Order: sequence, then structure tokens, then C-alpha cells
Amino acid sequence: MRTLISNGTVVTAEGSYAADVLVDGETIAAVGRDLEAVAGPFDRMIDATGKYVIPGAIDVHTHMELPFGGTFAKDTFETGTRAAAWGGTTTIIDFAVQSRGQPLREGLDAWRAKAEGNCAVDYGFHMIMSDVNDDSLAETDLLVAEGVTTFKLFTAYPGVFFSDDGAIFRAMKRTATNGGLIMMHAENGPAIDVVAAENFAAGRTDPIWHGMSRYPIFEGEATNRVIRLAEAAGVPVYIVHLSARDALDEVRAARDRGAHAFAETCPQYLFLTLDDLGNGFEGSKFVCSPPLRPAEHAEDLWKGLVTDDLAVVSTDHCPFDFAGQKELGRGDFRKIPNGLPGVENRVDLLHDGGVVAGRISASRWVEIISTAPARLFGLYPRKGTVAAGADADLVVYDPEAKHVISASTHHMDVDYSCYEGRLVTGASSVVMSRGLVIIEDGRYTGQKGHGRFLKRSVSPFLA
Ligand code: URP
Ligand code: ZN
Ligand code: ZN
Repeated sequence: MRTLISNGTVVTAEGSYAADVLVDGETIAAVGRDLEAVAGPFDRMIDATGKYVIPGAIDVHTHMELPFGGTFAKDTFETGTRAAAWGGTTTIIDFAVQSRGQPLREGLDAWRAKAEGNCAVDYGFHMIMSDVNDDSLAETDLLVAEGVTTFKLFTAYPGVFFSDDGAIFRAMKRTATNGGLIMMHAENGPAIDVVAAENFAAGRTDPIWHGMSRYPIFEGEATNRVIRLAEAAGVPVYIVHLSARDALDEVRAARDRGAHAFAETCPQYLFLTLDDLGNGFEGSKFVCSPPLRPAEHAEDLWKGLVTDDLAVVSTDHCPFDFAGQKELGRGDFRKIPNGLPGVENRVDLLHDGGVVAGRISASRWVEIISTAPARLFGLYPRKGTVAAGADADLVVYDPEAKHVISASTHHMDVDYSCYEGRLVTGASSVVMSRGLVIIEDGRYTGQKGHGRFLKRSVSPFLA
């Protein structure tokens, strides 16, 4: 199958220019002007006049079916990757979980089995390390060789995913030898638990106290600590879901002194605030960790995206229904499952709040939603760009289309939207995954099982 996408404006991290894109089978065959005259026969033409042609977006932080807080994140790999496709995301990297006492392999196999045959778009895995020991450290070498090159550890969630500094340092030293990357959830979990217990004991049980207990300084402290540990181990480190200016200040300072520290933020920290956690138990819809912050933090995060101290925007998609799931925490904010839906909304929110609002260029938008994730997570140049030889993961994006985000129209399997009623400018009109059109004319035309496991390489972009 040969498809010509004609007359669009190709937008990559390097710039924007008028060009046609010829897709042959699963890959891009050519990018250039007036390809119709020289491309030879093709089977169909997609008119991209007035639209952008961008690389499919890459969401490096999702949690389909994650067991958390006595329940499971609601989206399966089937529903979650389909929703991703609707929103212009053609690759996800999800987190397989090692349980305590279990080998990494067991967790990875379990997550691969959940995804296999179910995904609408390509997918890879990071590995959550809950148990750092001689065996699991040795296993990281094998996983890196198999394309699972990234390992998440936590200074938060004591008793669940938490690792102490020694365990984190050991994991960092091992990845220094095998080329893997440590991703850190950086909040001081033990200190947070002290404050949360005090608040609960004082009768402060509403969701707002989730946010009030997790001080920004607890995120700043942990961010500084894990970056310093990574510097001591001589490895790069990637801070996930950075929410607070206190943490951003630490990343910036580290980068200014030449440390190989990288960080992502998420739409919820750019568009939502601590106030959303108010309004009684309704606030549970906005409970995630780190928590939403006062508005002034978001302004700093936008600046961090401009200066590249924040390299990526991912979603941390981890949806729980309000009914029956978030409600597990009625009367005790500590029992509300942590996580928000968002895999479908990231591309449009960043276009609207970033490009349309004049905060970032269209090229920078593409860089933070696709190219930088591909580079940092070992997928570039197969993914993350529009170039001959790359996978034909492409989005024909209408930068003028307006739509209202709502749970009544979204495709994520969750009963509310954090952005209910928000009007955004920009929408994916055609989405292609490895040459297959999966969204077109407001219809899903993809196939369950089309998405393949991605064996990722170690990234040459981390130094
Ligand atoms: O609240 C969140 N972020 N839930 C998902 C798990 C995690 O820490 O990323
Ligand atoms: Zn986390
Ligand atoms: Zn997460």
C-alpha cells in the first residue's frame, strides 16, 4: 500500500516546511515537494492542505491496568491505546511492575501478556523496580538487551514501591554499566506520610489534604537527592511527572552544573491547580502524585519547557472511575487511588495551551510530545520524526479545528474528564500507525493487535 499525503506543512523538531509525504508499506519512503509527479503509482492520496503533518506523538508514561490502592487503573491496553490513537499518540511506553519478592522477568512477562494482541498502537515497557537485590540487578542487564532499557524507582509510596537511597544508588551504579536509564518518582514519601497522618488524625479527610500533605519542598528535596546520587554514580537520571517549581529549580541547577539530569512534566501540572482538589469529595477526581500545585508553579513549568530544563510532556495516564474507584477514599484521602486520565488529551492541550497561546513554537510542541521522547527512550529515528526510512506513524493535524473536551465524547474508559468543558483549538484529523490509517473522518479504523512491542535501544542522547 502506497499513500501520498499531499500539500501539508511538515512540522518536525527542526522546523516547518511545505512538503508531501510518501508512505510505502509501514515506512516513510520520501518527503519532498511535488512528489505526485515523481513518486510513481500510489494507492490513495490524503489531502493535508491547511494542515500540519507531524510525527505520531509518543507518550512515555502510561499505566494501563495498573494495580494501585486496592483496585486497577481502568483502561486496558486495548481501550487505552485506542484512546491514545484518537488523540494522535501512536506509541506508548507503559510501566511493567516487579512486585516485592518477584523477579523482574515475572513482572515483565505479565505486562507483556496483558498488552500482546490488544494494542492499537506500538508499545514498549519500562520496568518498575520494587525490590533491588543482587538478582534483580543482574536481571537489568538482560532486560536492557531485550529492549526494556529503563527502570523506575520511587522515593515515594513507603511500603509499596518505595526504595531507600542505598537501593536507588545500587540501581544507578548498575545502569552505569549496562546503559539503562533510571527514572525517578521523586517525592519524600516518609515525610509525606508523617504530615498525611497528622492531617488525618486532625479530622482533615477530604481530597484537598492529599495536596496539602505533599509539600512542594518534599518534591524538591527528593529531586535534589536523586540527582546527586546519579551524579555520584556517574549516570544520567530522568525525573518523571515533575510538578513543583522546587523540583524544577533542582533540575535546572543540576543541568547548569553539567549534570545529565532530564525531566518530564504532565498536562495536569500545566493546566490544573491545587484548587481543583477542593470542592469536597469531587476533588478526588484530581488526586495524583505528585499532587496538583498552586497556579504559580505552572508558570515556571512552562518556562522550563521553553528552556529545555523540562524535555518531555508525558501524561502519567492512570485512570480510575469516580464511581466505585476514587470513592474508595471517601473519609480518608490517603485511600483515594492516585492517578488521572489523560492519554487522549495531551497533544491537543499542548497545542492549544502551548502553540495557540504563543508559549512555544509548533516545532517545540512536536519536540516535547514526540521527538525528545523518541530520542531519550531509544526509539529515534525510527519514531519521533518525519523522514525517509522512519516508521509511518503520522498525524495530519488540523491546527484550526475547535472541540470541547468531555467525558461524554472521549474514548478513555473512565467516567469523568479532568478537562470537562474545556474548548481547545487543534485536533488530529488522520492518524496513521506504521502505514495503517487508524483514525479518519471521526472514525476509528484501526485494529486491536496492530500495535507491536518495541525493542528499544539504549539512548545516545542522554549525555
Ligand atoms: O498518581 C500517580 N502518578 N499515579 C500513577 C503512579 C505513579 O506514581 O506514577
Ligand atoms: Zn510516579
Ligand atoms: Zn506514573
